[in-house]
Amino acid sequence: MAKSVRRAVLGVTGSIAAYKAPLIARALIKKGVEVRCVLTPAAAQFVTPTTLATLTGHPVAQSIHDPALWSMAHLSLSSWADVVLIAPATADFVARLAQGRAEGVLDALVLSTKSPVVVCPAMDAEMWEHPATKANVAAIKRWGYKVLGPSKGELASGKVGWGRLVEPDEIVRFLLK
Ligand SMILES: Cc1cc2nc3c(=O)[nH]c(=O)nc-3n(C[C@H](O)[C@H](O)[C@H](O)COP(=O)(O)O)c2cc1C
Repeated sequence: MAKSVRRAVLGVTGSIAAYKAPLIARALIKKGVEVRCVLTPAAAQFVTPTTLATLTGHPVAQSIHDPALWSMAHLSLSSWADVVLIAPATADFVARLAQGRAEGVLDALVLSTKSPVVVCPAMDAEMWEHPATKANVAAIKRWGYKVLGPSKGELASGKVGWGRLVEPDEIVRFLLK
């Protein structure tokens, strides 16, 4: 990335690969990056906010209307971040990005940020290869979002194909290069 990254928002969505999000957060922190995490409700089924809050030392934003969070967390975080990283990004989240949706805290954050957005998709190969997903990915690329991956390999279904989350080390290398 052109600009040096000192503050990163890590947005996590409801893919099985969300279990790798703590590894991404930890690797970024080890490189001196401050990390704030935002989870979709589905992501919280795969990785706990407690894990991410403990690793980052900060509350995890999960709901746009959470009174326990600071006021308008989506707007504060969108301007705070040097980069907004979505890893993993589900097919549904990519579709929502392509539609400019804002009902969830992560959706609203991406819509309001002026910082670079890096999207790391993770899904079954059939979902990745569907024309709807291809069109959604093409749309967000046109707007300047960087789409990193997915890679080819063993998927949660047991099949081998395109749809695997890019390895955490590679994501961190990309952000800090
Ligand atoms: C066990 C399990 C694993 C899933 N893994 C994925 C996945 O890797 N990629 C994906 O796009 N959706 C996956 N889904 C479906 C998403 O969780 C679902 O579409 C959800 O609505 C996504 O919500 P979000 O994008 O707001 O996080 C999975 C669902 C289940 C039950």
